[in-house]
Amino acid sequence: MYETSEVYHPKEDSFLMSSILKKQLPRLLEKKPNLKFLEIGAGSGIHLETVFNIGIKKENIFSCDINPKAVEHCNLLGFNCVQSDLFKKISGKFDVIIFNPPYLPEDRFDKEKDTTGGKKGNEIILRFLKQAKNHLNEKGKIFLITSSLAEDINFLEQGYFSKQVGCEKLFFERLCIWELDSI
Ligand SMILES: C[S@@+](CC[C@H](N)C(=O)[O-])C[C@H]1O[C@@H](n2cnc3c(N)ncnc32)[C@H](O)[C@@H]1O
Repeated sequence: MYETSEVYHPKEDSFLMSSILKKQLPRLLEKKPNLKFLEIGAGSGIHLETVFNIGIKKENIFSCDINPKAVEHCNLLGFNCVQSDLFKKISGKFDVIIFNPPYLPEDRFDKEKDTTGGKKGNEIILRFLKQAKNHLNEKGKIFLITSSLAEDINFLEQGYFSKQVGCEKLFFERLCIWELDSI
């Protein structure tokens, strides 16, 4: 599944997200067996496979990517994936929404469209946070990656309670996964 060119090849950020999903999702699934899951920016589909293996029903797994090649790839894996800029083509509400976003500041570190999150690195994330609220069920949760190389985000100001559920120090940056609840 990782062979496809032009689709984000899973890296440390992907593996960190996978490990957190394996830790956090079983308890949520136990509380709500019909849990509805959405991934924004599904890429290779690594997390769609992970949550399916954890026990989320395929018909409850939804995803999108802005890259049509990623959409095609995830569809070939048998998952519901649509081409969409964030939530533009997404309707309905979900219990869990995840995003391993483009999170690097443009000039200094990165020019790749999969990983560049704008001038400060957090612009796509801020757009995501604004839209995500309208798509969360009551008690719904977001799992989101941020990088120490981008400008910090004040989640309270964005309307979310936040807690870090996992971090990894790479040689030039620190990646963290946040669990967010809408206030
Ligand atoms: C860092 S990659 C993560 C891919 C995969 N989820 C993973 O963890 O390996 C970011 C993904 O988000 C997608 N993406 C970037 N901007 C997007 C947007 N505005 N809306 C939807 N997807 C976007 C990219 O095409 C890419 O597949």
